[in-house]
Order: sequence, then C-alpha cells, then structure tokens
Amino acid sequence: MLKIVVLGTGNLSKHLCTAFIKAKDVEIIQVVGRNEEDLQQFSDYSPISNDFNAIADADVYIIAVKDDAISEVSEHLSKKKGIVAHTSGAIHLNAVQPDNKGVFYPLQTFTKGKSVDFENIPICFEAQEKESLKTLEILAKSISKNVHQIDSDQRKKLHLAAVFVNNFTNYMYHVGEALCLEEGISFDLLKPLILETAEKIQTIPPKDAQTGPARRNDKKSMTGHLELLNNETHITLYKLLSEAINKAHEKEL
Ligand SMILES: NC(=O)c1ccc[n+]([C@@H]2O[C@H](COP(=O)([O-])OP(=O)(O)OC[C@H]3O[C@@H](n4cnc5c(N)ncnc54)[C@H](OP(=O)(O)O)[C@@H]3O)[C@@H](O)[C@H]2O)c1
Repeated sequence: MLKIVVLGTGNLSKHLCTAFIKAKDVEIIQVVGRNEEDLQQFSDYSPISNDFNAIADADVYIIAVKDDAISEVSEHLSKKKGIVAHTSGAIHLNAVQPDNKGVFYPLQTFTKGKSVDFENIPICFEAQEKESLKTLEILAKSISKNVHQIDSDQRKKLHLAAVFVNNFTNYMYHVGEALCLEEGISFDLLKPLILETAEKIQTIPPKDAQTGPARRNDKKSMTGHLELLNNETHITLYKLLSEAINKAHEKEL
C-alpha cells in the first residue's frame, strides 16, 4: 500500500484525490492546506490538517499548490524520507527543496465542478532517484493507463505546447462567443464546428487540417472580417494569426 499526503486544496488536488480514493493499493493518509473551507471537502475520506509543520510520514507527498509556492511548501518536507513531487508542467524538478525530488504532472485541464476520467489522462513523471522513479510510475499507473517518464526540459516544452492548444484555443472560444453575442446569436451554433476541429486532428496532421480564408489567401474575405472587428486586441490577433497561417501555407498557394 502506497501512503500519500496531498498538499493543496485547489482544482487539481480535488481531482487527484477523487482518482486516488478509487485506486487499489493507494491510501491518502492526509490532505494539508491553508484554506479551512476547501480543506473540509476532503474530510469525508481523509484526515485533514491546516498545519504545514504537522505533516504525516508518507511514501509520496504530492504538492498541488500554485506554481510560485512549490519551493516554499516543499521546505516543510525537508526532514521527510518520502518522495516530494510537485504537479506542475512549467516548473523544474529542482524547485523541490528536499533531496528525494519528483514530478507528477497530469496533462489535462482541471476545473472545479467538471469531473474527468483519469484513465486516459497522460501522467508525466520524473524523479531524482531510481527507486523513486519506480514508485512514481506505480502511483501514476494506479490511476491512468497513459503514463510517461519525461524530464524537466521536455515537460516544460510539452506544457508550452499545451498552452497553445488549450489556453489560447479556449481564449479563441471566448472571442467567438463575444462576436456571436454582438449579433444576438447563440454560441451553441459554433459547438459542432469546435468538436469537429478537435476530432479531425485525431487522424489528420494539424497542418493538413487547416482551412479558412488565410490558408486560401482570400484577401476580400479577410478585409471584410477586419472591418467587422471593433476591438483592437481582436484586430491584432486576427492579423497576426492570419499572417502565420498564410506563411505556413504560402508554398501551396
Ligand atoms: N488546474 C489544472 O488544469 C492543472 C493541470 C495540471 C497541473 N496543474 C498544477 O497543479 C498545481 C495546482 O494548480 P490548481 O489548478 O489546483 O490551482 P488552484 O485551484 O488555484 O489551487 C491552488 C492551491 O494552492 C494553495 N496555495 C497557494 N499558495 C500557497 C502557499 N503559499 N502556501 C500553501 N498553499 C498555497 C491554494 O490555497 P488557497 O486556496 O488558500 O489560496 C490552493 O489550495 C499547480 O502547480 C498547477 O501547475 C494544474
């Protein structure tokens, strides 16, 4: 049985704990956090504590706090023997202060109130010690079938790619919704298009899947679009992205 302590009570902590309580051979022996109200939500299935100086002894400590607080929180674990693993895509393994360092990064977007199926979520793990690598692999495989040993440089690049495909794409949905609302049209009309865009790159490389006025270099359509935009940021984004698409496909035109 792997004994784990989870530090932090936010989005990822809740989703990870929900997965770990269903896992065989894993026991959450404590959840530690500074937010009393959030902490109470874990009390149904785990002892809880708001005291970072009274952390139980465990095999693995999962630090699920905001990126900037990882180093500071890990300092509370400097006398522990277990693996101290952070969960961030963007932060180097060395941000963890204790010697038995690790990373346990689930590559997915986790949001409050939206459940996820961990089975297919890629979990990227890394550790300083050989034995710790094995332990983190076992822990990752207890909740997912999609487990990868990835070093800090690779993970940071992967996280950057994730920012492009998820964070930036979601902002585009936000802009699309605002444009629909300007005309009193429901954003629902765009949802089948959004789903097909994500679906087709499962089998077609993204470059080949590109369509639209910028790929075809349809100048009149692009000028017409720019005339409809009244937000400077949206105009800048439209021009920048159209130029990038056009450049990526100029040899085909
Ligand atoms: N959400 C995702 O989609 C996702 C995906 C993969 C990885 N991650 C990683 O998971 C980690 C947590 O992200 P999250 O999305 O769960 O963030 P979150 O929902 O904002 O939760 C952050 C948690 O960190 C705690 N915290 C912040 N500063 C602290 C400090 N100085 N000392 C102690 N606790 C502190 C917060 O406590 P308070 O409530 O008291 O502020 C809260 O419990 C991050 O490293 C992130 O990169 C997130």
